[in-house]
Amino acid sequence: MVMAKTGNKNLDYLKRDSELVNPVLHRIHPIVADHAKGSYIYDMNGDAYLDFTTGIAVNNVGHCHPKVVEAVQKQAAQLMHTSIVTHHKGYADVAAKLIEIAPGRLDSVFLANSGAEAVEGALKMARYITGRPAIINFRGSFHGRTFMTTALTTSKLYYREKYEPFPSSIFTLPYPYVYRSSFRNDPEACVDDCIKQFDVLFNQFVHPDQVAAILVEPVQGEGGYIVPPDSFLKRLRQVADRNKIILIVDEVQTGFGRTGKMFACEHSGVEPDIMLMAKAIAGGMPLSAFITRKDLSSQWPPGRHGTTFGGNPVSCASALATIAVLQEEKLPERAARLGAQVLERLRKFAAGKKHVGEVRGLGLMIGIEFNDKDGNPSKEIAEQVAERAFENKLLLLTCGSHGQVIRLIPPLNMSDAECEKGIEILEKAMTL
Ligand SMILES: Cc1ncc(COP(=O)(O)O)c(C=O)c1O
Repeated sequence: MVMAKTGNKNLDYLKRDSELVNPVLHRIHPIVADHAKGSYIYDMNGDAYLDFTTGIAVNNVGHCHPKVVEAVQKQAAQLMHTSIVTHHKGYADVAAKLIEIAPGRLDSVFLANSGAEAVEGALKMARYITGRPAIINFRGSFHGRTFMTTALTTSKLYYREKYEPFPSSIFTLPYPYVYRSSFRNDPEACVDDCIKQFDVLFNQFVHPDQVAAILVEPVQGEGGYIVPPDSFLKRLRQVADRNKIILIVDEVQTGFGRTGKMFACEHSGVEPDIMLMAKAIAGGMPLSAFITRKDLSSQWPPGRHGTTFGGNPVSCASALATIAVLQEEKLPERAARLGAQVLERLRKFAAGKKHVGEVRGLGLMIGIEFNDKDGNPSKEIAEQVAERAFENKLLLLTCGSHGQVIRLIPPLNMSDAECEKGIEILEKAMTL
């Protein structure tokens, strides 16, 4: 092995990094990525790590897909940046592509840089055009790290703690986390129970005509890879329609084929008023978007929102190539097929193992929730599993309110053999 011959080259860099970098930036795995290709990241020693994290749901088409790399290189040599000083062709090309792949009548696009910025922009628009202040979000949600999006995030206390005071007029309702609810065997009753909370909210906390938007993740990501019954989004759509509230669906983590459809809200057939996208949109380049309908965006006057870098030409070129790969290689369909197989296999594997509480997922967005001997969420076991997998060169991330969930977010175009190898390592790591 290279490591034996030359020592651990990661260590020199890790030491330098710890001296120079603000310690708030926590990195999960103690390796230094040198390069990456397809489903593998290679560290400074040349060791290959099978990547079931995709840089937190970004590299859906794998690392450095040749078509994406070519598009980025070509664009970088032609035009890198003009901001809103000029138009550039790639912006409208990306808008046209997003309109083509987005559900329903969504036909007006704004490009930004990060998921949090997409959330912020969408909420500014919702408040502006409704003239209403309040926003409804859900327990366990994650929407970003700016002040507004931190205020809207309740997936873990440590994202919020000591950042108060937060903006007001945010009302947080329960999300159908069926497994940890009182309705473990009756998902629809769990949805009913969540929806009933709107009556309480509207009678006791805020009048619905003061609510600008309902903001929801179609599958909760950081909150624990929680898949709600399809009826949940449908019921939210009804509440929104009845009260002229804007329904914003946050597809930042779920979008671009991850759940077996291009966007997760397609599973329930619900058309949002605004849909948020980021992460996988540009195959690893920073880009985000929110898409809405012209009848809404036309009420938001020019200049009331903007950005320096959003819709940068290089990111746009990368997005066009990435989405073309997703379509040409039929990756949403592959995610659906492979995801169903992995889910079935892991459920069989978990049967009878008391420390595995639930295996759940949609497409290749799969969560494994761990319990201690009393059935409580176990961060310790989830971390132990991730560490054992890491020792065998499989990269995993955790999530969930207590860090008790291992999430599988592999590239959608990993080979069958890579999938098999990853699951074998995982199963071994889960055998306590
Ligand atoms: C659902 C969701 N929304 C928003 C964000 C924020 O995205 P970003 O980190 O790009 O700002 C995330 C990030 O994990 C997310 O999962």
